[in-house]
Amino acid sequence: MRGAAAVAIELKSSSEISAIRRAGCAVARVLARVSAAVRPGLKTWDLETLAREESARLGVEPAFLGYLGYPAALCVSVNAEVVHGIPSPKRGLKEGDIVSLDYGCRLEGFYADAAVTVGVGGISAEARRLIETTRVSLEKAVAAMKVDGRLGDILSAIQVHVESSGFSVVRDFSGHGIGRALHESPSVPNFGAAGTGMRLQPGLVLAIEPMVTAGSEKTEVLADGWTAVTKDGSLAAHFEHTVALTDKGPEVLTEDHG
Ligand code: MF3
Ligand code: CO
Repeated sequence: MRGAAAVAIELKSSSEISAIRRAGCAVARVLARVSAAVRPGLKTWDLETLAREESARLGVEPAFLGYLGYPAALCVSVNAEVVHGIPSPKRGLKEGDIVSLDYGCRLEGFYADAAVTVGVGGISAEARRLIETTRVSLEKAVAAMKVDGRLGDILSAIQVHVESSGFSVVRDFSGHGIGRALHESPSVPNFGAAGTGMRLQPGLVLAIEPMVTAGSEKTEVLADGWTAVTKDGSLAAHFEHTVALTDKGPEVLTEDHG
C-alpha cells in the first residue's frame, strides 16, 4: 500500500484470527495455482483468469478487484515492475522474466493478502539471488515478530538482510495491518531501526511485504495509475504474508493447511 490511515490498531481475537487463517488458506491456494501455471508464452491475463476461477471455486471474494478502482483480482508485476502490475491480454511472459504475483481475498468478513515472485523458465543467477534474498527477508521479518518486541525489529530485519545482500528496499510502498479492512494501521515499511516503534502484542495481524530491487530503491507509477516500476529499470521482487502474533509467537496465516 501507499500512504497510511492513522487510526488505532485493532488487535484480533483468536476467532478473528481463525477467520483470517481461512481466508489466508484460500490466498495460498490461489497463489499456488497461479504460480504453477507461469510459463513462457502465457499472457498475464491468463493468470488473472485462473485467479478468478480459483476464487470462485473456493468461494472467496477477490479483495483487489474494484479496490480504489483497481481493475483485476491479481497483481502481476514483471521484471522492473515492483507492485500493482495490471494483468493484460497483450502482455506475454518470456523465458528469463521474473513475475511477482500478489493476491488477496475476503472470507467471512476478513481479509488475507500474500505475494510471491517466481521465474519464467530459466532465469539468471542474479535474478535467483534477488528472489531468494526477498523471500528470506520475509522469513526473517516473521521471526522478528515477538510479543513485547517493537515494530522496528520487523522492519530492520528486512532492511538488514536485503542491504547486506547488496540489494535495496523500496521505500514508496509498505506493508500494513489487515483484518476487517485490507489496509489497516499500522503501516509496515521495509526499513527501520530495531528497538523503536510500537510494542508488539498478541492479536496484532500484519501483511508484511518486502519489495526489493537489484538497483536503486526509487520507483515511479506508470500512466495507468497503478503499475509501480523501478526508475532505473532494475529488477524487483516482492514477497508477502499475512502474519498473526499470538502468545505462542508469530503464525503465518497465508499458508495452505490442507
Ligand atoms: N498487497 C498489495 C497492497 O497491499 C496489493 C494491493 S492491490 C490493490 O498494497 F489493488 F488492492 F491496491
Ligand atoms: Co498487501
